[in-house]
Amino acid sequence: MQFRSLKGIQDILPPESYVWQKIEETSRETFKKYGYHEIRLPIIESTELFTRSIGETSDIVEKEMYTFNDKGDRSVTLRPEGTASLVRAYVEHHLYNEPSPQKYYYIGPMFRYERPQAGRFRQFHQIGAEVLGSEDPSLDAEIVSMLNAILRRLGIDGFDIEITSIGCKTCRPDFKTELKKSLADRLGLFCEDCNRRFDLNPLRTLDCKVPSCIEARKGSPAIIDFLCGECSRHMNGLKHGLSLLNIPFVINPNMVRGLDYYTRTAFEVTQGSPGSQKAIAAGGRYDGLVAEFGGPPIPGIGFAIGAERIVPLIKESLTVRESPDLFFCTLGKEASEKSFVLTSQLREKGLWVEMNYDTSSLKSQMRKADRLGAKNVIVLGEDELKNGRATIKNMKDKNEIAVAFDAGDILKAISK
Ligand code: HAM
Repeated sequence: MQFRSLKGIQDILPPESYVWQKIEETSRETFKKYGYHEIRLPIIESTELFTRSIGETSDIVEKEMYTFNDKGDRSVTLRPEGTASLVRAYVEHHLYNEPSPQKYYYIGPMFRYERPQAGRFRQFHQIGAEVLGSEDPSLDAEIVSMLNAILRRLGIDGFDIEITSIGCKTCRPDFKTELKKSLADRLGLFCEDCNRRFDLNPLRTLDCKVPSCIEARKGSPAIIDFLCGECSRHMNGLKHGLSLLNIPFVINPNMVRGLDYYTRTAFEVTQGSPGSQKAIAAGGRYDGLVAEFGGPPIPGIGFAIGAERIVPLIKESLTVRESPDLFFCTLGKEASEKSFVLTSQLREKGLWVEMNYDTSSLKSQMRKADRLGAKNVIVLGEDELKNGRATIKNMKDKNEIAVAFDAGDILKAISK
C-alpha cells in the first residue's frame, strides 16, 4: 500500500527546507529589532472563535474551514489564520495588563480548504505579526515598513505595497447603504453567493472572484470616498508615516479583505502579474476585535506573510545546500570503529562530519563523499592503522596533510 500526502498539502524537502530556514531566521532577526516577541498558538481552536471574528459570510468560514466535532462533541477547527487565536490568547491571559503596545509574532501552518493551485495550498504557512494597544497611524506605517524590511532582507523586490482604508463603525454603514443602492438593479448579474450575502454583508460582492461578478460591480462606489473625518485623518497619518520612511506605496481603493474583522487600514503586498495568487502578504487594523472577544476596547493591527508565496521569489533559493567539513572513508572493521569514535569527537568540537556505514568499495565511498560535497576526505585503511597516521585531502585545492588519529590534530589541519 502506497500513501500520498493529501491534495494541496505538501512536504517541504531539502534543499528547499534551507530556504524556509532562511525566511524564518530573517523574519525572527527583524522582529527582534522592532521589539516583537514570539507567541506560540494552538493549531486547533473552537469553531466559534473563527466564525465570530472572520465573519459568517466570508469565504473562509462558509467554505474553507477544516471543521469537525471532537470526541467530546465540541465543534473545533484547524486554524485558517492566526489573528483570531492571538487575540483570544491576549484576552484570555489578560496580556493587556502589560505595558502597551504589545508586539507579537508567530510562524506556523494554517489550513484552508481551497482549490489548490500554484501558490495556493490547503496547508500553508504564515509568518505573522500583531501589535495591540495603539491606534496611532505611525504604528501602521511602522508595521508596513517592518514587512518591507523582511522582504527586502530576503532579497525580494519588484513588489507593490497597496494600502487603503476600509472605514470604521461610523462611516461604513453609510457606505453599505450607498453600495446596496448602486448594485440593487444589477443583482441579477451577480452569482448566487453574492445574492445570498447581499443583505447581510454587501461588501462581500466587492471581493467575489467570479468573473461575471467582477464585471458586474465595475463602477460601484469605493469606501475610501466615504471615510469619516477620523478615518481620513488616520489614513493621511499612515501615508505621511510611509513617506517619512521612504516606503513606496500605492493606494488601491478597490482592495477588499476576505476577513470581516478589519477597520481602517488594510494593506496587501502584491507581486507578479494580476491574478488571484499575487498577494504575498496582507494585513490591516482590527480595532474592535479585542472587545468583541470580551476584552477592553483595545485596538490592534498586524499582517501575515504567505511563506509558500515567497519561497519561489528568493533568488539563491535552491543553491544554499550546505556540505560536510569532513568525510571518513574506511576499509575494514577496525578502521570503521576508529572513524566512528573520531567522527563523534569531531562533531563535539563543532565540525559537520560524515562517515561510511557499510562495507562498500573505496571508489563508491569517494563517490558518496563527492555527492555530499565533502570539503575534506580522510581514508582509513590497513596502512594508515599500521602507521597511526592518515592523510586529509582538501577536495577543493587537492592539498594533502598528514595527521595523527587525534581529533585535535585533525581539527587543526582542517582549520588551516
Ligand atoms: P490573509 O490575507 O487571509 O490574511 O492571508 C495572509 C497571506 O497568507 C496572504 O496574503 C497569502 O500570502 C497567504 N495565504 C492565504 N491563503 C493561502 C493559501 N491557501 N495558500 C498559500 N498562501 C495563502 C490573514 O490571514 C490575516 N490573519 C493577516 C493579518 C494579521 N491581519 C492582521 N493581522
